[in-house]
Amino acid sequence: MDPVLIDGRVVSAAVEARTREGVERLAEAGVTPGLAVVLVGDDPASQSYVNMKEKDCARLGIRSFDRRLPADTSQEELDAFIAALNADRDVHGILVQQPMPSHLDVERVVAAVSPIKDVDGFHPENLGRLMRGLPGHRACTPWGVMAMLDHYGIDPRGMRAVIVGRSLLVGKPMGLMLLERDATVTWCHSKTTDLAGVCRTADLLVAAIGRPRMIGPDYVKEGAVVIDVGINRTDEGLVGDVDFAAVAPRCSAITPVPGGVGPMTRAMLLANTVEAAKGAMA
Ligand code: GUN
Repeated sequence: MDPVLIDGRVVSAAVEARTREGVERLAEAGVTPGLAVVLVGDDPASQSYVNMKEKDCARLGIRSFDRRLPADTSQEELDAFIAALNADRDVHGILVQQPMPSHLDVERVVAAVSPIKDVDGFHPENLGRLMRGLPGHRACTPWGVMAMLDHYGIDPRGMRAVIVGRSLLVGKPMGLMLLERDATVTWCHSKTTDLAGVCRTADLLVAAIGRPRMIGPDYVKEGAVVIDVGINRTDEGLVGDVDFAAVAPRCSAITPVPGGVGPMTRAMLLANTVEAAKGAMA
């Protein structure tokens, strides 16, 4: 049987519709949610992400504060900049685009953003809240994967979930979110022995490695749900971490690339921004 195609465009549109309702309710209370996107330097990929985020905000009635700083911005200047955004009552969410120029200390920057405004969910307090099972901003990409599973009625409870990748942006929080929903979670990484064998135990396999088409059919159990977080630019265009054509026939459900997890990150960012604005009113 053909697998269910988990369509990120459909799910992100559904998330966006809820976000729009939230924006309308806030407007009735006289509040316009505001998102500050800080980009240090002129990395072209980051510039295009930031431009897309601004368009998203405009479409949904979220005020965006575009802050582009030169590549030679000092740590002290950036600290002061973030402090000003933390204090600005019109700014409910702050995102500092990653990666940053190497002279900047990413840990210091992440910790400088007020946890209440940390719509990326990267602040140690928000990651700690996830670990403790407390409410808080959740990292957008794995939170988007959770929204996709929910939309398609895939309940992680009792599933054997294997995550390939342990990044702070995706792999680590992904596993915690699945654990929170009662999956049995295994993290794999570059030092894992018999990676394919471990992946074959998965009812739910999440690939977040950044290696084009690394996950082939020998990594996938018949009937598994496969979520591909990879976005790799190759000569053949955008491809995921999963060899979609070879793997899809084995799956019960799978995300494509593009049009899978990709659109979810921005949708969850806007959702987090509206939640931050609601929180500021409470
Ligand atoms: N760079 C790539 N993805 C992200 C993200 O979700 N947040 C931030 N701040 N930077 C990123």
